[in-house]
Amino acid sequence: MSKIKRIGVLTSGGDAPGMNAAIRAVTRAAIYNQLDVIGIRRGYQGLIQGLFTQLKAFNVSDIIQNGGTILKTARCKEFTTPEGRKTAYDNLVKEGIEGVVVIGGDGTFTGARIFNEEHNIPFVGVPGTIDNDIYGTDYTIGYDTCLNTVVEAVDKIRDTASAHNRMFFIEVMGAEAGFIALNSGIASGAEAILIPEIKNQAAVLKQTLEDGFKRRKSSNIIIVAEGDDEGGAFKIADKVKEDFKDYDVRVIVLGHIQRGGSPSARDRVVASRFGYAAVEALLDDQKSVMVGLQNDEIALVPFRKAVKLHKEVNKNLLEIADILSI
Ligand code: F6P
Repeated sequence: MSKIKRIGVLTSGGDAPGMNAAIRAVTRAAIYNQLDVIGIRRGYQGLIQGLFTQLKAFNVSDIIQNGGTILKTARCKEFTTPEGRKTAYDNLVKEGIEGVVVIGGDGTFTGARIFNEEHNIPFVGVPGTIDNDIYGTDYTIGYDTCLNTVVEAVDKIRDTASAHNRMFFIEVMGAEAGFIALNSGIASGAEAILIPEIKNQAAVLKQTLEDGFKRRKSSNIIIVAEGDDEGGAFKIADKVKEDFKDYDVRVIVLGHIQRGGSPSARDRVVASRFGYAAVEALLDDQKSVMVGLQNDEIALVPFRKAVKLHKEVNKNLLEIADILSI
């Protein structure tokens, strides 16, 4: 039986729909196990500034359906320094916090891993990022809601693209990974999808568009991940305009609407499972691990692996997208 009596919970990095459901699950699973729960506001910044508030079961009522995060979030430079992390540690000791659940992505887990190498208060991670790009988990909180937001937007754009015989380049988030682009592209029947994992796609895109033109395709939707090596939707659209002078080309950057909104059922369920599992992990005296989902089972993955190893996109999906868009 673990001796832990008081835990903290924070959200850090880019917010993702479902983070509130995870905070609720952590809080209630902890209270069920007779633990005190302290909400830490503004991520690692709040650890350093001592932004602590106790969470009771009622404090997390009526939040499961909301996007954003009631604890707020931040990207914190200071936590990347040994001095910043020492201040955070001192504040945790002062507050009597003996374990922390950190909800976030890559950067959050990198900070948590280093903190746990230096200090003995265990950190357990819950993967929350719309990018779904964390190694060791099939799924990250927020991804499903984000995909649905993108698909809804693209459906609307397709109506006008088709009405005007236009070509639309639609940029989606994914600075380093193409999961959002790839799966939203398939779900919205895009004619082409450009992702950071596949380089030098300009020539292939040109061929795809020429083939479509010959088959009398009158409108086109091209989904571009923001981190694509052509430099984003505007740059690639400019290149295409040179080759297809007769085409009426438009560019849309979907931007931060992809991070907001009420979480989907899937995001709420996964967030609830992750939050519960993270508390169990702390009670089992685990440290420096992330809870993940592997074949629909909860798995514990060391931060070391989650941040160092690269999660691969399924390149077969690109081929499927290509074949289905002829
Ligand atoms: O949440 C992940 C992510 O959406 C990336 O895909 C994107 O590049 C980044 O965050 C943008 O974040 P911010 O606007 O907070 O800098």
